[in-house]
Amino acid sequence: MKVIRNINEMQQIVKDLKIQGKEIGFVPTMGFLHEGHISLIERARNENDLVVTSIFVNPLQFGPNEDFDQYPRDFERDERLARERGTDILFYPSAEAMYPKGAGTVMKVTSRTDVLCGEKRPGHFDGVVTVLTKLFHIIQPDRAYFGLKDAQQVAVVDDLIRSYFFPVELVACPTVREEDGLAKSSRNVNLSTEERKAAPKLYEHLLSARKLAEEGADVETVRSQLLSELDQMALGETDYVQILSYPGLEAVQTFDQPTIIALAYRFQKARLIDNIIIR
Ligand code: PAF
Repeated sequence: MKVIRNINEMQQIVKDLKIQGKEIGFVPTMGFLHEGHISLIERARNENDLVVTSIFVNPLQFGPNEDFDQYPRDFERDERLARERGTDILFYPSAEAMYPKGAGTVMKVTSRTDVLCGEKRPGHFDGVVTVLTKLFHIIQPDRAYFGLKDAQQVAVVDDLIRSYFFPVELVACPTVREEDGLAKSSRNVNLSTEERKAAPKLYEHLLSARKLAEEGADVETVRSQLLSELDQMALGETDYVQILSYPGLEAVQTFDQPTIIALAYRFQKARLIDNIIIR
């Protein structure tokens, strides 16, 4: 595995690969790799000639009071995992290289972001699509792999790819969970012992919500039950519970179309998100 920090060097490598007709699978990450990322790398490995994984903690997608400084980082461990699990090129640019003039020219997302994390984290998805636009231009992947834990991100990237005619296939992959059901996330390390014990309840409550929906309950009943179960956890606070069409992310009255039941919950030092998509 090669580690590339320089953008020009990365672009030259991509140029050569394209001349050779190689298909590139791309896994963008912010590092602190876990089994969720690894599952994306392994899938990319199976479906492409070559896998590029990027590690870049993108300052532009963090709000002023968010956890950019606390975001966990461990490059040595990431490098080892990426190598062992099938990455060919690890792209690890610096913030100065990605944003030589500060934020510079940025992208603005105007659809699918007035709900869920987009509503709670203003500017977050502008930062995500700005960095992904840069990364797609540098790496020119044939396929890009994203986890459905960040289902809104998948919906926004789907719109980015369509709006800007990127010749990239978006591959949305299932959420990878711990044995007790907690969705794998780099932020889980910031949970206290007590919070870690309680956190699997987020998924348990989502499963009960799905069951209720499948039994025929209406959207408002499912939402209220989920909200009240989360409120009873009492270790943190619910940021949102929303039930929307997927991937359009519009309000729904019934479960007659693909629908996402999504939540965000704030523990002391970690805000966790999770969801279930009912197809
Ligand atoms: O999902 C993430 O880790 C980030 O939002 C991404 C896609 C790498 C962009 O910075």
